[in-house]
Amino acid sequence: MMGKKTEDKISDRVRKLKPYLFYKIATAKEKALASGKELIDLGAGNPDLSLPKKIIETLRTQALKPENHRHPVYEGLRELRVAIADWFSKRFGVNLNPEDEILILGGSKEGLGLIPWAILNPNEVALVPDPGYPIYQRSVLLSGGKPVFFPLIKENNWLPNLGKIRVSSKTKLIFLNYPNNPTGAVPTLSFFQKLFEFAQENKIIVCHDMAYSEITYDGRKSHSFLEIEGAKEIGLEFFSFSKTYSMTGWRIGFAVGNKKLIDALREVKVTLSSGVFHLVQKGALSALLLSPKEIDDIRKIYQQRRDVLIKGLKELGWKPEVPCGAIFVWAKVPFSLDSEKTAVKLLEKEGILTTPGIGLGPSGKDYIRFSLTSPVGKIKEALTRMRKIEF
Ligand SMILES: Cc1ncc(COP(=O)(O)O)c(C=O)c1O
Repeated sequence: MMGKKTEDKISDRVRKLKPYLFYKIATAKEKALASGKELIDLGAGNPDLSLPKKIIETLRTQALKPENHRHPVYEGLRELRVAIADWFSKRFGVNLNPEDEILILGGSKEGLGLIPWAILNPNEVALVPDPGYPIYQRSVLLSGGKPVFFPLIKENNWLPNLGKIRVSSKTKLIFLNYPNNPTGAVPTLSFFQKLFEFAQENKIIVCHDMAYSEITYDGRKSHSFLEIEGAKEIGLEFFSFSKTYSMTGWRIGFAVGNKKLIDALREVKVTLSSGVFHLVQKGALSALLLSPKEIDDIRKIYQQRRDVLIKGLKELGWKPEVPCGAIFVWAKVPFSLDSEKTAVKLLEKEGILTTPGIGLGPSGKDYIRFSLTSPVGKIKEALTRMRKIEF
C-alpha cells in the first residue's frame, strides 16, 4: 500500500496540523549549515548558556548509583516534589502539597501537550493566546478539542482583553503564558486576579505556562497565578527547567495546582509516557538550590543581549518591543514584507535564523521573533549583516 492510499489512513486530527514550526526551523537550519553558511541562531528558545557546574556534578555522582537507573517513579521522586514545594513557597508564598499537587514532567511541553486530553471532550473549546507557543493550539487539535484564539493586545501591554473573550457552554479551559513568549510581557498580580475572576465567572480551567518565570529584566519579578486566593481550585501551572537553568536537553519540568487536575494529568501521562530519568530529576533538584545571585547572573546575561539587540534593531529602523521577561524580542517588520518572507530573506541572504511571527499565530504575520540565545558578539554580527540586506 503506497502513496495516496497510505495517506488516506492518516487520522483527521494529524491532518489538521500544519507542519510544526520549530521542526521547520530546525530543518531550515540544517539545510543552511549543510550549504556551508555560517549561521547566527536567533531562532528557537533554546538556551546556549553553560549549565551551572553544581548541576553537572550532581549528574556525575548520581550516575554511579544503580538505583538511579531503574524505571523512574511516575509522578516524580518525592524528594524533588518536596524541594519544589519548598521552592514555590519561598518564591511565590504558595503552599503546595508534594503528595498530590505536584507532578514531574518530561519538560513542561509534555504537560502542556497532554493536559487537553485530561480536560476536553471532543469539540470542547480551549482558549489559546495569539500570538503564543504553538503547542497549546496543536495539543488541543490532537486531543479532538477545538482551539479558539484570543488576541494579546499591544495597547494592553500584550495582555488579553478578558471582557472581550467569547466564552460558550463548550469552553472549558484557557491557556496563558507569562513571562510571555513571544512578546516579553510580564503582568502584575492584579491581572491574575482579573483572570481568576474571569475564569470563575465562566467556569473554566486556567492553564498557566510559567516556563520563563525566573527570567525577568530591570529588577522585575514575575508572579504565579496560584498566588491568587482560590486559584488552586481552578488552575494548573507549568514550570520548565529548560530556560532558567539551560537544561533544555534534559527534558524536565513540572505541573502544580489543583489536585483533581493533577490526578487527571497523571492518568494521561502514565498511559502515554513514563517517569523522568532519576538522574535528571536529581539534577533538577540541585538547580532549585542555586542561589539568588546565580539566577541573577543568568538574567543579567539575557538582559545585556536584549539591550544590544534592541538598540541595534532601532538603529536599523525597526520598532521592537522591549521585553520585560522571557528570552525573545518581538519586532514588527518595518517594511512591506510578511514575517515568513522576512525570515527567509534573513536566513538565505545573511544566515540569520529567526522565527517568523506567523508561526506563533495569525496576529504574528508581520512580526519577527528574535531569540536571545546567542552571545552579544553574535548578536552584533547579526545586526551588521542585517544592515547589508535590501528588504
Ligand atoms: C512558552 C513556552 N512554554 C513551554 C516551553 C517548553 O519547554 P520545555 O523544554 O520545558 O518543554 C517552551 C519552549 O520553547 C516555551 O517557549
